[in-house]
Amino acid sequence: MPIVDAMLAKDVVLFQPSLVNLYGCRVGEGTKIGAFVEIQRGVLVGARCKISSHTFICEGVVIEDEVFVGHGVMFTNDRMPRATNAQGSLQTAADWALETTRVKRAASIGTNATIVPGVTIGERAMVGAGAVVTKDVPDYAIVAGVPARVIGDIRMQRRALLSANSGRA
Ligand SMILES: CC(C)(COP(=O)(O)OP(=O)(O)OC[C@H]1O[C@@H](n2cnc3c(N)ncnc32)[C@H](O)[C@@H]1OP(=O)(O)O)[C@@H](O)C(=O)NCCC(=O)NCCS
Repeated sequence: MPIVDAMLAKDVVLFQPSLVNLYGCRVGEGTKIGAFVEIQRGVLVGARCKISSHTFICEGVVIEDEVFVGHGVMFTNDRMPRATNAQGSLQTAADWALETTRVKRAASIGTNATIVPGVTIGERAMVGAGAVVTKDVPDYAIVAGVPARVIGDIRMQRRALLSANSGRA
């Protein structure tokens, strides 16, 4: 698979460079990207992120620094997708409106989550495995389910506090 016109900053790690599809995107310093990841044109991925295998990041997505994206996470950018326009011809870029999505600093997205277009996932928020995120996720919220609902606050999690503090003097 190709890497075309992608701007990869210093120390970006592609575990299997021949098995990713990166084009027209920018990836920040030290970010790690697994196999079978596609990142489309115009996407910005921040520094020190982890993008796990089989994830699809479409045009219109901005991922800030230190974000974790689990395996097989699917971003979307067309709320009402159609193959063809009203005349029955295959749609072109002129026939649909791209909606943007932002994942804020140090958020985490669990395996197999789907992110519906136009949402913001808040700073340090945690999206559960298999969630379908249809609305903005507040900073620090833990969300899960289909559709994703707030089930907790990461600041109240003992395990999260322990891992955040581990290794610090
Ligand atoms: C969402 C998540 C962070 C919640 O963890 P937690 O705060 O420890 O939550 P708990 O296990 O105490 O579960 C709380 C409730 O939410 C439910 N729940 C937990 N995770 C869920 C999920 N992904 N989807 C739906 N419901 C979920 C639990 O069943 C439980 O429901 P109950 O109160 O009715 O029994 C975690 O379950 C999760 O999905 N983590 C992501 C894992 C992952 O994808 N890792 C990727 C790298 S391997």
